[in-house]
Amino acid sequence: MNDAQALAPRAVADSAVREQVYLVFPNDLNANDTVFGGMIMAQMDRLAAVVADRHAGGVTVTVSVDAVHFMAPAKRGDVLVMHAAVNRAWNTSMEVGVKVEAEAVGGGARRHILSAYLTFVALDANGRPRPVPPLRPETEDEKRRYTEAELRRRARLAHAEELKRLRAASS
Ligand SMILES: CC(C)(COP(=O)(O)OP(=O)(O)OC[C@H]1O[C@@H](n2cnc3c(N)ncnc32)[C@H](O)[C@@H]1OP(=O)(O)O)[C@@H](O)C(=O)NCCC(=O)NCCS
Repeated sequence: MNDAQALAPRAVADSAVREQVYLVFPNDLNANDTVFGGMIMAQMDRLAAVVADRHAGGVTVTVSVDAVHFMAPAKRGDVLVMHAAVNRAWNTSMEVGVKVEAEAVGGGARRHILSAYLTFVALDANGRPRPVPPLRPETEDEKRRYTEAELRRRARLAHAEELKRLRAASS
């Protein structure tokens, strides 16, 4: 594959994962008998990494995760159902949106457990950021997420810049 082919725009569906399931076992629970949040976050990061790697066509690393809020608990015997897709790609980075739902054993109504936005950076063989293909949003939802992702990126980068300035000033 030449450089032009490697950087040709890609559709959301080319890398998205829908309906990834995870059956909760007793060793996934915290002292409150609900699912340990850190386990869900690890699953979410793994799933989002696969989506980012597919879009980038190679290795990516997580550079930031936007605020994560657990909106409802997942419980013993639940099935976690996860979805992840690239919302937007810039030069070397991409935002991946993840939604986690839970359903009781045997199926039935789903509860929304959390949504999060993760930013990944593609790396070359020397561990330096490398360009990723642009994203081609097609559906109305994909176009809305694409637009909203730019707002979140501005906030993320402004926050990261502010932290850098504060640390430089205090060192
Ligand atoms: C990812 C990493 C290589 C980027 O290095 P860097 O020197 O910041 O590189 P750059 O300044 O060129 O930025 C690269 C991209 O990351 C983006 N970026 C950097 N910091 C970011 C942040 N806090 N949030 C969101 N995006 C960020 C930049 O906007 C840029 O994206 P763009 O090219 O699409 O505009 C470096 O931060 C790193 O190695 N971090 C650790 C990653 C890791 O190990 N993750 C696993 C968890 S331990």
